[in-house]
Amino acid sequence: MNSDPRIKQILSQIRKLAPGDLKAGIEAQDDLDAAIAGLDALAEKAEESKDAIKRLHTAQAAALNMMEDAEEFRREAERANDSLTEQQNILSSLNETFVHLGPDYGRNVQLITQACGKTLGAVCALYNRLEGGLLCSIGQWRTPGGFNPVDKPEGHICHDLIRKGKGNGAYIIRNLPETGYYKTDPNVAAYGLKTYIGHAVNCGEQTVGSLCAVFQEDAQLGANEGMIMGMLAKALENEEERWQSYAKLKKTNKDLEATQNASLNIMSDLDRQRKELDKSLQEKEALIREVHHRVKNNMQIISSLLKLQSYSIEDPALKAIFKDCENRIKSMTKVHERLYRTEDLAHIDFGDYIKSLAVDIFHSFKANAARISLAVNAEGVAMPIDTAIPCGLIVNELITNAMKHAFPGDRKGELVIEMKKIEKLTIELIVRDNGVGIPDGLDWRTSKSLGLNLVNSLAGQIHANIDLNREGGTEWRIRFGVKSQE
Ligand SMILES: Nc1ncnc2c1ncn2[C@@H]1O[C@H](COP(=O)(O)OP(=O)(O)OP(=O)(O)O)[C@@H](O)[C@H]1O
Ligand SMILES: [Mg+2]
Repeated sequence: MNSDPRIKQILSQIRKLAPGDLKAGIEAQDDLDAAIAGLDALAEKAEESKDAIKRLHTAQAAALNMMEDAEEFRREAERANDSLTEQQNILSSLNETFVHLGPDYGRNVQLITQACGKTLGAVCALYNRLEGGLLCSIGQWRTPGGFNPVDKPEGHICHDLIRKGKGNGAYIIRNLPETGYYKTDPNVAAYGLKTYIGHAVNCGEQTVGSLCAVFQEDAQLGANEGMIMGMLAKALENEEERWQSYAKLKKTNKDLEATQNASLNIMSDLDRQRKELDKSLQEKEALIREVHHRVKNNMQIISSLLKLQSYSIEDPALKAIFKDCENRIKSMTKVHERLYRTEDLAHIDFGDYIKSLAVDIFHSFKANAARISLAVNAEGVAMPIDTAIPCGLIVNELITNAMKHAFPGDRKGELVIEMKKIEKLTIELIVRDNGVGIPDGLDWRTSKSLGLNLVNSLAGQIHANIDLNREGGTEWRIRFGVKSQE
């Protein structure tokens, strides 16, 4: 029965109605209909509300799911954060190690090995290297007593790792007692090892060693441990490369030192040779000086002999010949005399020589010297012996001729001798007198007399150019070249 209050109200109204009150009944009917219609609308609304509630429930369930997802996500984020913190801690601990690396290769290897063992929480860590065909544990952290650091490499896990050159990641072996290594690697059984993690260490293209950490339990090793091994292996690679460069540098230095020593030896050899040469040169110079001295002495003996001989000659013409000869020898003697006295054994100061020679010849003609004035004007010129002797003989002949023939009787006059450089390597020598002059008919180039003949042939010897000027006496102008001393 419908319990709606409005329907109840309508029904009570109907009961109160007098029978036959149709109008009122119709109205009541209408009201009833309206009420029913209202009820239907309400029912419809109620249905709608039900749907809405259903949707609300669905939405609520979805919201719950989302909340669960969010929670899961939060937990995941927390885990990620933890892992990040752990990685950060690992990195700062590794960084601590790297900061303390110094120039010492051995110490750095120890520090890196220690960081490997400590960071991974291993029982022991090693850096093994193949040296001279043996596997050497050059980096050790917490190795147990009785551990053998140098062993034949065959059978060791690390040796396999080095051979395979697993350069791209960590090499993990679990359940070691169940692997072949239990028998082949002496450390597995001896120390009850269960888990191995290793990483190859390269130097250039070659794998030279392996860094490893071992555990006596079934260690949980993941990406972080792999990353740690990678970073530490990289640090060892840097050490290896630095060490190799250092070894190369050391070798280069040694080579350089050897080259330097060799150069020093060569230099001291050269110095010794130079000293020997100096000594031998000094000996030769002394010898040459001695030779010039002896030649001069012998020539002096010859001129003395001639002089002695001439004392016994009565004939003045013959006496004069002896004197000429003596003077000729003297002019040569003077060259040798000067050579053994000078510093430079190969050259004499020709200007100086000419002056002395002219004065000597001049004074050897005592009788004429009083009537004749002599003027010598000569520049200092260095001249080698092979030019000096012929040139000295030419001058001797020309001065002698002037003294002998230019001023016959009581005739007075002057004799001028000049010598100068007219070019860098050309010398001009002038012997001039204002005497009677060479007889017109005499061609000096074809003269058969000894004096001019000598002048001619000696001039040819030194490639001299001779001009004779017969005006106002006799003027000889001789030009010849001297070799450069450089
Ligand atoms: N300066 C001079 N003045 C004058 N006459 C000269 C002069 N020089 C040379 N003569 C002449 O030329 C000649 C040839 O000279 P040369 O020197 O060849 O022979 P010499 O002096 O006579 O003897 P020697 O062969 O011993 O020198 C001389 O005899 C002399 O007549
Ligand atoms: Mg003469």
